[in-house]
Amino acid sequence: MKKILVTGGAGFIGSHVVRRFVKNYPTYHITNLDALTYAGNLENLKDIEDYANYTFAKADITDYPAILKIFKQANFDAVIHLAAESHVDRSINDPMAFVRTNVLGTVNLLQAARETWASFEGKRFYHVSTDEVYGSLGENGLFTEETPYDPNSPYSASKASSDHFVRAYGETYGLPYLISNCSNNYGPNHFPEKLIPLFINNIIENKPLPVYGDGNYTRDWLYVIDHAAAIDQAFHKGKNGETYNIGGFNEWKNIDLVNLLCQLMDEKLGREAGDSAKLITFVKDRPGHDLRYAIDATKIKHQLGWEPSVTFEEGLSSTIDWYLNNQEWLTRVTSGAYQTYYKEQYE
Ligand code: NAD
Ligand code: DAU
Repeated sequence: MKKILVTGGAGFIGSHVVRRFVKNYPTYHITNLDALTYAGNLENLKDIEDYANYTFAKADITDYPAILKIFKQANFDAVIHLAAESHVDRSINDPMAFVRTNVLGTVNLLQAARETWASFEGKRFYHVSTDEVYGSLGENGLFTEETPYDPNSPYSASKASSDHFVRAYGETYGLPYLISNCSNNYGPNHFPEKLIPLFINNIIENKPLPVYGDGNYTRDWLYVIDHAAAIDQAFHKGKNGETYNIGGFNEWKNIDLVNLLCQLMDEKLGREAGDSAKLITFVKDRPGHDLRYAIDATKIKHQLGWEPSVTFEEGLSSTIDWYLNNQEWLTRVTSGAYQTYYKEQYE
């Protein structure tokens, strides 16, 4: 039995990673450690919460004594670290929260691993990171694993810092590590503060769609289930000390993506063509807004055999269907009602 700690498993990507590992690897025991912030929701894992190879531990990665205690009790073989403050706009308003969780929290996990792993043989610390550490691209080019770090927002600076600490623990103490840097994810369970779920929610509620600046910013979108599959491949087949870029070769200008979303929503909601697009409102730009992200995912494709399984059109369509079929989830996460769910279930 391999004992794996997944941090941030109640969040968007983490919940898909936890589900995949719990279901696909019955000989592993998965401990999901999460502080259940506004972004963490155990309802995301309702279908697997009774599996014998799954345990939930409520803990804050900024609390070193609590983390060390869990490491000592569990004697993990590996860590897959996703817990983070993840929203760029929040990082602009409250950078310290990002320093605490993303930098200090990551170092706490590294330190707990270092302190409790008597030997590093067979161990692995996997940090799930972002393409935002590379900064912004111009009109051309792609981020490769060799692109120098050049973060622009407090969020990306905190993630760059945590990547550096992971590498530093590898170089200095020999801790076996792996890092992946992924592009923008979308899919079920995405908190409705990020572009795609926010706009789906606003279209349902006939609220304005706030497009930052002129909307001519580019992001490279990947279905979250494909990201979870890439993490699985990298975790099992990746080499220690390596970085893998993960992306879907799927660049969209925000305004084009929003128009596509509006068109699909009109069709699915039975509205007149053009109704949802009338909600588009150009608003003040995000400060320090990165122009373009685009990932070269050749290395993970050639070395580990991973590539996306769904097209953007398929992924976006099933994402919209998921939100339309889970409007209670939307209401609950936006009202904070899932905190009550946790109390009822676990306290
Ligand atoms: P999310 O905000 O949906 O989830 C984050 C999870 O971490 C939540 O469950 C939250 O409760 C937990 N958490 C936050 N602070 C914590 C703390 N102090 N202690 C313990 N748990 C805490 O984030 P996400 O979008 O699922 O992102 C997961 C990881 O993947 C992050 O590290 C993020 O940087 C990275 N990433 C995200 C994307 C993306 O497009 N969403 C892309 C690339 C990389
Ligand atoms: O690239 C990976 C990153 O993608 C992850 O590391 C982050 O955790 C994740 O949040 C995401 O960051 P972005 O800032 O790219 O995602 P967001 O959904 O916030 O914004 C996508 C684009 O849409 C960006 O150019 C800003 C714009 N936007 C966003 C919002 C929320 C708008 O125009 N209006 C909005 O209301």
